[in-house]
Amino acid sequence: QVTIASGEAYATYLVAGVFDSADEANAAAARYCSADGFDAALEANRTFWLDKTSPVLCSVGDSTFEQWMRWVTVQPVLRRLYGNSFLPYHDYGRGGRGWRDLWQDCLALLLMEPDNVRSLLLSNFAGVRFDGTNATIIGTEPGSFLADRNSIPRVWMDHGAWPVLTVKLYVDQSGDLAFLNETQRYFTDVFWARAKDRIPASSGTVLKTQKGDDATGTVFEHMLLQQLSVFFNVGDHNCLLLEGADWNDGLDMAYDRGESVAFTSLYASNLLWLAEAAERLEAAGTPVELATELTVLLDRYFGSAIDYADPAAKRALLSRYFASTAQGPGGEKTQVDAKRLAADLREKAEDLFTRVREQEWVEDSAGYGWFNGYYDNTGKRVEGEAASGVRMTLTGQVFSLLSGAATETQVERVVSAADHYLYREEVGGYRLNTNFGEGSQDLGRCFAFAYGHKENGAMFSHMAVMYAYALYARGRTQAGWKVLRAMYNAAANFERSRMYPGVPEYFEPDGRGVYCYLTGSASWYLLTVVTQMFGVRGSWGDLILAPQLAAEQWGSGDTVAIATSFAGRQLRVEYENEAQLEAGTYTVTQVAVNGNPVEFTREGDGVRIAAERLPAGDLAIAVELGPK
Ligand code: G1P
Repeated sequence: QVTIASGEAYATYLVAGVFDSADEANAAAARYCSADGFDAALEANRTFWLDKTSPVLCSVGDSTFEQWMRWVTVQPVLRRLYGNSFLPYHDYGRGGRGWRDLWQDCLALLLMEPDNVRSLLLSNFAGVRFDGTNATIIGTEPGSFLADRNSIPRVWMDHGAWPVLTVKLYVDQSGDLAFLNETQRYFTDVFWARAKDRIPASSGTVLKTQKGDDATGTVFEHMLLQQLSVFFNVGDHNCLLLEGADWNDGLDMAYDRGESVAFTSLYASNLLWLAEAAERLEAAGTPVELATELTVLLDRYFGSAIDYADPAAKRALLSRYFASTAQGPGGEKTQVDAKRLAADLREKAEDLFTRVREQEWVEDSAGYGWFNGYYDNTGKRVEGEAASGVRMTLTGQVFSLLSGAATETQVERVVSAADHYLYREEVGGYRLNTNFGEGSQDLGRCFAFAYGHKENGAMFSHMAVMYAYALYARGRTQAGWKVLRAMYNAAANFERSRMYPGVPEYFEPDGRGVYCYLTGSASWYLLTVVTQMFGVRGSWGDLILAPQLAAEQWGSGDTVAIATSFAGRQLRVEYENEAQLEAGTYTVTQVAVNGNPVEFTREGDGVRIAAERLPAGDLAIAVELGPK
């Protein structure tokens, strides 16, 4: 018992933890249980976290937003540490991290601590099967993947799309094209042909060729296989089959006939990127080599073109590929001509784009127009006017905008439809979907959640941020900022959100923000702020400066700034907007790097600075903006 006299201070320290022995516990107590020990540990802790967030910092005319962004930057770190499980939120998952999350968490890493990402990305590719699908259970070490413990044959059709987005960011930021030519193993277990078949279990999870060697292929080959296997796997409407679900884990009840139009667009733009990558590889003197079996899927190039308007013909070709490779690849490689490969891939992309643009555009009697994102298990189109009211999803819009499938007019119309049907300021902005009423047993379990919760109509941060990203990417600055601002305002309103600073996974209908340590949205929020809002991003190693900040974001000052990493350097970019011009009316007029004017070429409202014009070492870049 201690008696504390008036004005007297008394401090006590205690250690809580799990130790192997009493000796270790005593050692910890000796280290921390004193004023000096405690203060030193606290200081070290503070320094650690400040260091974590300092590589990416933004300064705008709103200091609360700046501080809040620091927390958003911490979130991806917490998510990597804790996986999908963190103390108060332990009802969510079992601490694991899925394939999709693995890749997207790397987005933030590329901006924050890019040093080890290259090897991390390369090891992730060891999870790809030779049928284009992938392992879903991630081991504890980078590159270790386990066969599905529960033996559930399930394929998430979006999985193949994320590696391309992450690798694209990596190559853009680093200029390291050679990464695409690195080789990696393939994963194998009992599942085959997109989990429709089973093959005999092999002794390990490393795929062997028919000769018994480890089967390997380049990073490019892995990604190509992932896209091609999905391209041919279409439903009756000739859009990509939904299979076990897509990004929305809750869309899991349309295995037979469901289609994800949303991801059809994303895969199409990935094919376009691979086409350009192949051409660049060849131009750099490193031609593309592919497993010979894969050429079957390049039907335009290798002379047996099938009719892309016929879904059955697409599926049949894919089955032929699966049959020919079920015993493992032969191990032979074929060198391909990049121009002809690119032409083949572009034709495939165009096939998908045209279908989304023309076939999947819906309009309602109120005059709104948007994209249908799904077909359900009865083969019925999901979006449009239904007896229970208008059905619209945000996901269906995000990917058609982002991929470039949507025409400029369609972008405008999607924005007004989303504003009308999905935007609710009080829950943080754009909901994931309208209320489908009775729920849809033919689409997925998420419709069994009460409307406004989780993947049924909450403002689900991940997709909302991706909507913002897509809007910026299509040059709709005000619309993009509206999305990000609504999320920030809702999160920062503590009286309603009751959360630590940061992005929640979603807001409950009463405005409470939940699962803030788990969500992958923070990675995307950071990515959007740095590469779109501030417009500081790479393009095959060149530096692009294309700011899309609204005039209000300058506050009362003339300059805003962002720090981020780029091509192995730490960068600080400052924009000066003396005339307080609004986004859309300004353009970059001058760029100085470390005090010296630098040459650039114009690209839209932004500029491109060739990689070779950037000096080595950390860079301070001053950018002047003036009227267009
Ligand atoms: C979570 C999952 C993510 C999934 C999303 C929607 O999102 O982690 O894989 O795509 O739900 O079902 P997050 O909490 O990361 O925002």
